[in-house]
Amino acid sequence: MKLLNAITLSLAALFTASLSVAAIAMQNNDVSQVKLPSMKPGQYDHQAPTLADIENDSELHPELKKVVLKGRDLFMNTQQLRGKYVFNDMNCKSCHMGEGRMAWSGPVWPAATTLPDFRGKNGHVNSLEERIAGCFSFSMNGTAPEYGSDTMLALAAYHQYMAKGAKVYDRNIGGRGFSSLGKDIPKDVSFGQGAAVYANNCAVCHGPNGEGKKVDGEVVFPPLWGDGSYNWGAGMTRIFTAASFIQNNMPLGQPGRLSDKEAWDVAYFINAQERPQDPRYTGDAKETRQKYLNFHKATLYGTEVNGKVLGQHDNTGEKPFLKPEVLKPRTFSDK
Ligand code: HEC
Ligand code: HEC
Repeated sequence: MKLLNAITLSLAALFTASLSVAAIAMQNNDVSQVKLPSMKPGQYDHQAPTLADIENDSELHPELKKVVLKGRDLFMNTQQLRGKYVFNDMNCKSCHMGEGRMAWSGPVWPAATTLPDFRGKNGHVNSLEERIAGCFSFSMNGTAPEYGSDTMLALAAYHQYMAKGAKVYDRNIGGRGFSSLGKDIPKDVSFGQGAAVYANNCAVCHGPNGEGKKVDGEVVFPPLWGDGSYNWGAGMTRIFTAASFIQNNMPLGQPGRLSDKEAWDVAYFINAQERPQDPRYTGDAKETRQKYLNFHKATLYGTEVNGKVLGQHDNTGEKPFLKPEVLKPRTFSDK
């Protein structure tokens, strides 16, 4: 809980100029009412190291420490790669909150302990670099730094260090990913009620049109839809992923405040809005949906909402291309 307070406080510090928003973030600093999901019996948990742990680790070679700290810096402020690898307003930490350390907010250390592994999304065995590349291609609406480059090395080293002391290839991990609410989208999920939840709880930070907020060119509140947001291939477009992320992490500083129903409704509402094209686009959204139905059955992409087929456009946002290199299919050859 200390971590949450720290996030809320540092956020408030950003807002000397915008007191009303700071007040909202502060007013619910009482986290005693927060009800995060608990780990199931037998599930493995791991406390990832903090920034102080990295800095004070005397066993870490100074050169490696430099690389790990650079990786952390890239994770927290990924906007420094804007225009080269990142073409929206996201930072890695926008979704992997608490420096990628927090349970129920996609902690990143499990990737380092369970990869290489087979991944259903692309149908082959992925390395840690390739997993990171996935979030660049979809969540950041961009393209990945070259494998083996300084940038990729630094990011991978940060992930690996977050796993320091954790059990390797134990897959029964508590708090991994986001899907604590389960994967069954309720039948009575409502766009209209989602819009109301959004207006009452989210618009103050994320903007009336989901456009987020920048102060002096810096992203303070990331967009939830539109060109600055994650694209149609991102994990967050899956209603169950967004619902769980929101339930456990939003509104900022007040995790667990929304009821499950409110989280489902607002996740549906957000993901019924337009965003940059899925880089796997075939030229037809319905066809792309069918081709990747295993993923898209949990999204609204290629379906008709309020009289329009979502994703039927060639807008790639700020990104000047559709398909990043790393999305090319690959199979392992043991020859
Ligand atoms: C828009 C939200 C979003 C952003 C921004 C984002 N990610 Fe992710 N990330 C996700 C989602 C969703 C998943 C899949 C979790 C799941 O399976 O439910 C994920 C999964 C991961 C995983 C695998 C975690 C595991 O449990 O194996 C890693 C590693 C990762 N992301 C790294 C990054 C990095 C590095 C960046 C920045 C370059 C980034 N992500 C940016 C949403 C995001
Ligand atoms: C007090 C301001 C605030 C409020 C209110 C708030 N958020 Fe957020 N939200 C943030 C910040 C800041 C981040 C990024 C976290 C970070 O960078 O540490 C974020 C991240 C997100 C993300 C992942 C990143 C992205 O842009 O897609 C989603 C989804 C999200 N919020 C949804 C919501 C929803 C839904 C609500 C209302 C129930 C809400 N938020 C209320 C500040 C807020």
